[in-house]
Amino acid sequence: MVRVPCASEECGFAGAVRAGLGARPKSLPCRFFYDDEGSRLFEEICSLPEYYATRTEREILLRAAPEIAEAAGAGTALAELGSGSSAKTKLLIEALLARQDELHYVPIDISTAFLEESSRALLGRFPRLRITAIGGEYLDAVPHLPPRDGPLLCLFLGGNVGNLEEEEASAFLAGVASGLSPRDRLLVGFDRLKERTVIERAYDDRAGVTAAFNRNLLTRINRELGGEFDLDAFDHAAPFVAERSRIEMHLVSRRPQEVRVAALGQTFSFDRGETIHTENSHKYDRAGIDRLCETAGLTVVRLWSDPREWFSLVLLAPVRGREA
Ligand code: AVI
Repeated sequence: MVRVPCASEECGFAGAVRAGLGARPKSLPCRFFYDDEGSRLFEEICSLPEYYATRTEREILLRAAPEIAEAAGAGTALAELGSGSSAKTKLLIEALLARQDELHYVPIDISTAFLEESSRALLGRFPRLRITAIGGEYLDAVPHLPPRDGPLLCLFLGGNVGNLEEEEASAFLAGVASGLSPRDRLLVGFDRLKERTVIERAYDDRAGVTAAFNRNLLTRINRELGGEFDLDAFDHAAPFVAERSRIEMHLVSRRPQEVRVAALGQTFSFDRGETIHTENSHKYDRAGIDRLCETAGLTVVRLWSDPREWFSLVLLAPVRGREA
């Protein structure tokens, strides 16, 4: 396991909470959702009836994996940015191993516990697989991809690109593109723009799992930083904001309140109805995908969608790949 230190100034939870709750409007970076409990809740979200994204992407992969493997070329290595439990990746690993004798897989994820568990399971299942796991923020890990002889297929699945602001997404994809040689490919999962009710239901499910996932940020502040948040004093809200083509997740203060966070030596005040903005999840139409990829220096090689076009997997090549 290779561990990559976080490059951003606000990478520590305490610093991010101090900055985010001290600002107006208040916000917290969505990467802090994923402590052990948050990662578990996210896995639960992925199998909710309302959360179509995981299921739909898997359906597309089931059908397209052999074509993706063929397009990737012989002797491909596989990397995955934000690999999580690598559940969907198995389909691609199988398809690649059907075409080549062995495969080097490089999963990158912030949760090292997840990385270890999923890597062990994959090695048990695929004897011809070799794994180099990288623990860290995928935004920081790209320069640490191991050197390779053949082409690389780099995965950025799950619609994770949607959690970045458009400029951030473009800069991130440009960073990945600049590390690719002309024969390398990037496969990105895009959650597509669709009917508002379908999207909103996916982020406010009946069982309340997404609400618990959102509130877990407050539990985390209480546990790790001695916070005194009353979880019942905050509502989960997830409206679709059409002008920005995105779901915005918020925690809404139900009453005026003061909340002390001991480790920061600070008390934060909330008005009634004031929100903490915790996540954006952008939904892309085809023109938006093309625009984003073009500004990032990537060209669309092929696109696979489900029949309703709720989700797309987009195979991209660098416009100007670095010399191998
Ligand atoms: C990880 N990411 C793509 C999810 C999404 O749909 O934006 C995170 C999520 N937030 C609430 N539900 C799922």
